[in-house]
Amino acid sequence: MTSLQDIVSLAKRRGFIFPGSEIYGGFKGFWDYGPLGVELKNNLKRLWWQTMVYDREDVVGLDAAITMNPQVWEASGHVAAFTDPLVECKNCHKRFRADHVVAKKKLSAADLTGEDKLLLFCSKGEEHDFTEPKVFNLLTEVCLGTTEPKQKAYLRGEITQGVFVNFQNVVSSTRVKIPFGIAQIGKAFRNEITPGNFTYRSREFEQMELEFFVTPDDKESQRWFTYWKEQRMNWYVDLGMNPKHLRFREHAPDERAHYAKAAEDIEFEAPFGWSEFEGIHHRGNWDLSRHKLTYKDESGEEYIPWVIETSGGVDRSALFFLLNAYHHDGKRTILKLHPQLAPFKVAVFPLLANKEKLITLAQKVKTELSRSFITAWDDRGNIGKRYLAQDEIGTPFCITVDFDSLKDDSVTVRDRDTTKQDRVAIPKLQDYLSPKLE
Ligand code: GAP
Repeated sequence: MTSLQDIVSLAKRRGFIFPGSEIYGGFKGFWDYGPLGVELKNNLKRLWWQTMVYDREDVVGLDAAITMNPQVWEASGHVAAFTDPLVECKNCHKRFRADHVVAKKKLSAADLTGEDKLLLFCSKGEEHDFTEPKVFNLLTEVCLGTTEPKQKAYLRGEITQGVFVNFQNVVSSTRVKIPFGIAQIGKAFRNEITPGNFTYRSREFEQMELEFFVTPDDKESQRWFTYWKEQRMNWYVDLGMNPKHLRFREHAPDERAHYAKAAEDIEFEAPFGWSEFEGIHHRGNWDLSRHKLTYKDESGEEYIPWVIETSGGVDRSALFFLLNAYHHDGKRTILKLHPQLAPFKVAVFPLLANKEKLITLAQKVKTELSRSFITAWDDRGNIGKRYLAQDEIGTPFCITVDFDSLKDDSVTVRDRDTTKQDRVAIPKLQDYLSPKLE
């Protein structure tokens, strides 16, 4: 099985993900996406938006502010209830999430690796001596304004509330009618007690969410809950996630967030165990009633709609797509990313870097292809090494311009997954690649 360390080192080496503020020793729970990471994340977000907004008649988009009037968070219940239980070791003063400690205590000593051990033992190997759990609020505070005391506000702990506070604006400015949804992608912030497992638990992360408004009816809301569960699971499978490493997990009543009537997670079998990366939540009328918002239908009937939410993490999805795609066969490391997710779709190589005619033709091929596909260029080292370098970042096709190309106007196209090579006429490249990449 791929280890988390395989991905951490590939991500750093090839420019997917770097530790945040690295030259100052890093900053716990913050990560920066490099040239390839930003492409992967943008692809994920673009494909999500395509499926959830453009391909549908019943969903519109929104981009709300990250910082909102603090009253929003009072009303939404986050100031009172967006909490995790915190314990502190009386000896070493390290702080942990009590529920994580309890979960690790169930593991046998042999299963305990570095991070797990840290949860249970002080540096000298003795068990931590924990305080009673305290309630710890995860909202990140910010101070605004020019006069003292400055105004306290919060960075949003979930992107969701921006949708609810704009519910009336969207209804009155568009032609949406229930059932309909509002989709949003954006950053959220949580003062996590124990960030960890690479980007899995960060303090700054991106969410992609749909709030889908339905009539307040048990049967109708259940139908949509089931519908969205299936839609979301299929989306990950269609983009190449191995269904064997995916499952649904229903939340027990005592585990649900303060707003949820019902909740199921989509989980991935990560090296650190089955882990949530998207939640489907039945939020009932919790949020709209807290913000005192209602909806009037065409017949004039006024009611508070119920909400079915799909809430995915862009960073966790990116991490799990990388874990899912990583293959090592002894000689090659290959990222078998779905072509739509791959940062580059094609790479073009001139066989030799010092032959002007080869370079000129290869550059012409690259310029043509770049109009349709994100295309990489490599003229360093030998062709074998260039193939290996592209395999490692998931580029589906490599194209080599050689001496025969100067005579027959054809190039060699090599497939990442099969390593099979085809000779293709340059004018036919677009037709050859398009169906394979789309
Ligand atoms: N609006 C509902 C909501 O925020 P959530 O289950 O708390 O629900 C949804 O979060 C998704 O956001 C998670 O499934 C995960 O993908 C992502 N997420 C939550 N906390 C995270 C963190 N600390 N680091 C990275 N991603 C996180």
